[in-house]
Amino acid sequence: MLLHRLPLRVVLLLCSLVALFSVVTADVVQTTKPGCANRCGNLTFAYPFGMNSAGSDCYFKESDSFLIFCDNSTDPPTPYMYGRDSNFQILDISFENHEIRVEAFVGRDCYNSSGGSLYKNEPWLILPDFPISSAKNKFIAVGCNMYATFSGQRGRKYMAGCLSLCDSFSDVINGSCSGIGCCETSIPRDAYQYNISVGSFNNHTGIWEFNPCGYAFVAEDGFFSFSKDNLYKPPFDIVPIVVDWLIPDQTCDDAKKNTTTYMCQENSNCTDAENGKGYQCHCFEGFQGNPYLQNGCQGTFSSLFIRPSEQVFMYRIADHYFNTGEHVKWIQWHEKPRERKLIETFKSEDQILGKSTKKVINLLHWY
Ligand SMILES: *[C@@H]1O[C@H](CO)[C@@H](O)[C@H](O)[C@H]1NC(C)=O
Ligand SMILES: *[C@@H]1O[C@H](CO)[C@@H](O)[C@H](O)[C@H]1NC(C)=O
Ligand SMILES: *[C@@H]1O[C@H](CO)[C@@H](O)[C@H](O)[C@H]1NC(C)=O
Ligand SMILES: *[C@@H]1O[C@H](CO)[C@@H](O)[C@H](O)[C@H]1NC(C)=O
Ligand SMILES: *[C@@H]1O[C@H](CO)[C@@H](O)[C@H](O)[C@H]1NC(C)=O
Ligand SMILES: *[C@@H]1O[C@H](CO)[C@@H](O)[C@H](O)[C@H]1NC(C)=O
Ligand SMILES: *[C@@H]1O[C@H](CO)[C@@H](O)[C@H](O)[C@H]1NC(C)=O
Ligand SMILES: *[C@@H]1O[C@H](CO)[C@@H](O)[C@H](O)[C@H]1NC(C)=O
Repeated sequence: MLLHRLPLRVVLLLCSLVALFSVVTADVVQTTKPGCANRCGNLTFAYPFGMNSAGSDCYFKESDSFLIFCDNSTDPPTPYMYGRDSNFQILDISFENHEIRVEAFVGRDCYNSSGGSLYKNEPWLILPDFPISSAKNKFIAVGCNMYATFSGQRGRKYMAGCLSLCDSFSDVINGSCSGIGCCETSIPRDAYQYNISVGSFNNHTGIWEFNPCGYAFVAEDGFFSFSKDNLYKPPFDIVPIVVDWLIPDQTCDDAKKNTTTYMCQENSNCTDAENGKGYQCHCFEGFQGNPYLQNGCQGTFSSLFIRPSEQVFMYRIADHYFNTGEHVKWIQWHEKPRERKLIETFKSEDQILGKSTKKVINLLHWY
């Protein structure tokens, strides 16, 4: 670590400065590009997400998945992914976890009292860039003597599913989704699409009075808790699912090669997504804000010190050390009193003390 290489006196100086520089609230952090909206109805979002606005790069143009369509004919307006026709409503977008919650449909297979098919639907979902979260969703099927499948494509086609068996209402354990009246299974990683299919072994004959339909869905883990009463009909038609968002297609190593398209800005790092193909940016520890925007990650300046051997000025935010680069190389000093004088100069610039990094950096550049 950098600190270990510093001469002792600088370390001592650093220690005394840590006490001197107090923490002040950071500036209001910009979350979108200038002139771009950051909300649609109840949804607030930040760059790389954005709405179409003539003449500005409000969203990450390389992928339409970041374009939010705002239907303002409803009150409040309703946000959709991939345009209004997609019917793919956005419930919220989390920056911390790189997740989007969206609405998805429930698959059903219903019969009449004599075992004739009454209604069947098999919902599907295709996401061009973002994978379905394998950590935050479950595939759930409800019904008796039924099965449900979740099929998709991860390079090759695959199919997962579960089955639920029960002959009478009293077999079913209320509150327990464990294969009798209700079953659940996990979602594989790297899944960008699915088809849900629900079927019955005997057209619900013999159980029709309490269970005329089988149904299945992918939903955020914890959204549904099974109750015996749900066998009669689903308590909802639409469920929330969690999708992981990322800058698609490239790994960090590939993305860094092209600085014009690399999305992680200063004071942030890049991680390859754990689910799906792409990368995600995170502000360094101690910094907050939007790592996808220039100067988006802001931290509170916690110390400032000199490294005489290299004649560069250093500053520290949380556990990260930065030097100010060439901008202050003109500063000449050799002896302690002069160091002290310099520090005092900066100390008296009360614009520096405890201000957010953006201000400090701007000020140092200006010096
Ligand atoms: C928007 O927020 C209001 C107040 O929190 C809530 O009552 C309403 O259901 C929300 N509407 C939508 C479409 O989520
Ligand atoms: C709704 O959106 C349309 C087109 O995007 C726009 O022309 C109109 O001004 C908007 N209306 C409101 C009330 O925001
Ligand atoms: C059971 O349902 C299927 C359609 O889901 C239908 O083709 C078949 O005829 C039904 N069987 C009976 C006995 O009604
Ligand atoms: C059940 O559905 C079948 C096939 O659609 C139909 O022939 C039969 O009349 C229906 N039975 C009842 C009781 O509705
Ligand atoms: C999902 O269903 C569509 C038609 O509804 C079909 O074209 C597609 O191949 C199916 N995908 C999988 C992975 O089964
Ligand atoms: C099952 O449990 C739920 C919630 O605890 C309760 O509301 C419901 O009445 C119970 N149903 C039966 C049939 O016991
Ligand atoms: C970087 O990406 C831009 C936009 O896609 C492209 O025009 C440019 O050629 C790329 N540069 C390199 C060095 O690959
Ligand atoms: C990136 O930053 C996050 C947050 O500070 C940290 O947890 C993670 O380990 C860092 N990853 C790399 C590759 O530096």
